[in-house]
Amino acid sequence: MRVGDTHYRTLWPREERSPVLQIIDQRQLPHHFVVADLRDISDTARAIRDMYVRGAGLIGATAAYGMYQAASAGMDLQEAGNLLTATRPTAMNLQWAVARMQAAATEGKDLYTEAMAIADEDADWCRRIGEHGAPLLEAIAARRSGPVNILTHCNAGWLAFVDHGSATAPIYRAHDAGIDVHVWVDETRPRNQGAQLTMWELMEHGVPCTLITDNAGGHLMQHGQVDICLVGSDRTTRAGDVGNKIGTYLKALAAGDNDVPFYAAMPSSTIDWSISDGVAGIPIEQRDNDEVLRARGLLDDDIVEPLLAPSGAKAANYAFDVTPSRLVTGIITERGISDAGEDGFAALFPERFEN
Ligand code: MRU
Repeated sequence: MRVGDTHYRTLWPREERSPVLQIIDQRQLPHHFVVADLRDISDTARAIRDMYVRGAGLIGATAAYGMYQAASAGMDLQEAGNLLTATRPTAMNLQWAVARMQAAATEGKDLYTEAMAIADEDADWCRRIGEHGAPLLEAIAARRSGPVNILTHCNAGWLAFVDHGSATAPIYRAHDAGIDVHVWVDETRPRNQGAQLTMWELMEHGVPCTLITDNAGGHLMQHGQVDICLVGSDRTTRAGDVGNKIGTYLKALAAGDNDVPFYAAMPSSTIDWSISDGVAGIPIEQRDNDEVLRARGLLDDDIVEPLLAPSGAKAANYAFDVTPSRLVTGIITERGISDAGEDGFAALFPERFEN
């Protein structure tokens, strides 16, 4: 994706087969564009846990490289996998990538090649999500004048993957094809991925967008200002329950009440084929309460974290929630758009439903 005039992916090896992985340090965005070196699996595990890198696909691709780093250093791959999967418990792509690297090692495959294949595949699957999703936006544009107003939550953009993004891929594709699109971006407290990351990448690409508070979406939907909700996912069940950034469920409830179509976009690497009931089965990460108690932003060229609540205030920080499939209009995957449910997924991914 574009940063100024340069095309970037979100991770790349320092040089061919180097154990050093280079990433964009997303904690510094949108104020500073900083590339960081992850020299070994400890660096990589810390970068995932502390969210230098974040977002479904990018966590998976980074973890895959971490497994290559571990193998290069002669580390036991079971131990390496345990270290990495403990960092972000909700993220399905993390488990998926670690398991795939462990299987590749068992089969005697070259782990550098496998890690690069996971990254390439992530970018390609997101590109295809864009191909399948853009017609939804084109259809809205064709039936009325004015911009297609899309509401998105958190950052399911290229920064959350290797390239293109999931929820943003149809938006970029439609915009590049000349469709008039406009994106309402939820700020996404407490870490503000919407305000800091989605706004930055949409603006870099020239997509019209407006930042809103997390609670504004329902009001906009009641007033006909949202044509479609497009969100990502960190883990979705085989029955189509969508785990995503905290606050997604409330947007889906408001969308349902206002007849606004609600789509989740994700590569199949985000689908947890082993569970059906998302509310009972998707592990919800709880993060440091300081993320809730403090804000983070730029003041006089320094990134500062002022205290919001009274000193000593109690807080809770649930990072994700689950939107039941009944509230989801459809799921956009690399193979096409599916109804949210086992029948829909079975049509697109029959191999997952064979006995
Ligand atoms: O905590 P994060 O930033 O890693 O959360 C992941 C997300 O960005 C969102 O939940 C997103 O909608 C799904 S990942 C494409």
